[in-house]
Amino acid sequence: MPDDPTATASAAPEGAPETASETASEAAATVLERADALAARTEEPGRLTRRFATPALAQAGDLVLGWMRDAGMTAHRDAIGNVAGRWAPPGLPAGAPTLLLGSHLDTVRDAGRYDGMLGVLVALAVVEGARGRDGGVPFAIEVLGFADEEGVRYGTAYLGSSVVAGTFDRSALDRLDADGIAMADAIAAFGGDPAALAAARRHPADLLGYVEVHIEQGPVLEAENLPVGVVTGIAGRTRAELVFTGFAGHAGTVPMTLRRDALAGAAEWIGAAEAHARSVDGLVATVGEATVAPGTSNVIPGRVALSVDVRHLDDAVREAAVAGLRARAEEIAAERGLLAAWTEVQVTAAVACSPGLTRALESAVEGAGVPVARLPSGAGHDAAVMARICDVAMLFVRCAGGVSHNPAEAVTAADVAVAIDVARRLVDALARER
Ligand code: GLV
Ligand code: MN
Ligand code: MN
Repeated sequence: MPDDPTATASAAPEGAPETASETASEAAATVLERADALAARTEEPGRLTRRFATPALAQAGDLVLGWMRDAGMTAHRDAIGNVAGRWAPPGLPAGAPTLLLGSHLDTVRDAGRYDGMLGVLVALAVVEGARGRDGGVPFAIEVLGFADEEGVRYGTAYLGSSVVAGTFDRSALDRLDADGIAMADAIAAFGGDPAALAAARRHPADLLGYVEVHIEQGPVLEAENLPVGVVTGIAGRTRAELVFTGFAGHAGTVPMTLRRDALAGAAEWIGAAEAHARSVDGLVATVGEATVAPGTSNVIPGRVALSVDVRHLDDAVREAAVAGLRARAEEIAAERGLLAAWTEVQVTAAVACSPGLTRALESAVEGAGVPVARLPSGAGHDAAVMARICDVAMLFVRCAGGVSHNPAEAVTAADVAVAIDVARRLVDALARER
């Protein structure tokens, strides 16, 4: 392992012109400037929050569409609001396949500026680098900026990529956001078309694959002192809502033994879920939202709704954990005179990245002079959905302290330059293969 692997970002690769890596460094500076510009498109002043089908997402998409057109791409929004830009080298024969590159443009609440956006911006840098070498690329490249990966507004992740993959669940159109707006109405208000979602799908026969660059969102690359790493697979996930219903009452008069406190039951269950996840290697379980009703300091809580997120790389382990957690909720409810209702919101199976495309990505990493680190992803990614229709590969980029889903998310220009260099090398290698 080199002492400072980032140094390889500015070293000219063997046989390559000196200017190639300088260009990657320049492109990295542009990527960081663009990430700053996107971070200013937010629903909430002072912090970055950009949920599905909001004006802030429209503004971010407009910026990306502009950059795509400036790069000579034909660009549009699809029926759910994904932005897509297509670059086809002059003279590309009809029927030539398309390589998809991208990630998502929506964010969690109070987000960092790179989760998702980095993959879209590196993809743009790849196209900007590929132009001028028009003759050498025997396929089209499309850059995708998905409209929803995080699932913050409707609790269902991957809305954007599931439309492209043709796996969109139409029953989700009836889901309501916190303001009571149905997803179908939100899509229409955003300029999309709920009736045209099925037609927006891409067909496997047209696709060479999907490659996503993403911040690691974990500490492994930093610990290994490496700028980038190759993803082996993406953990599966169950999203659910768990509602405990008890009986609201006076906080001063109802003796402790006679209470049916929904929040006390929910708290016991959260503790049990945490203890169970800690006892199983690689299992994670999270309650990220809790809605307490009626939500008043002098009223015993009568109803609590929890969001539940359970993940593991092995689907069987996740499924066993979910079954156990559901059973525990029933037990706690029975002991406390409560009702427990579990509603499955979304299940995504674990996905292994495609061996062939991943090997090509590993070679590109080696070509950039970086030792190949292979690591699984605990986070969900659009690649997990795109794997339903084409080969997928993912490149992780080191992020400071492994911090993500947090405004402190940070990457270095040098690491971004390595990622751009690797992605461009991958495109070159795929072009040579064909
Ligand atoms: C997406 O960032 C997720 O893994 O929740
Ligand atoms: Mn995220
Ligand atoms: Mn992401």
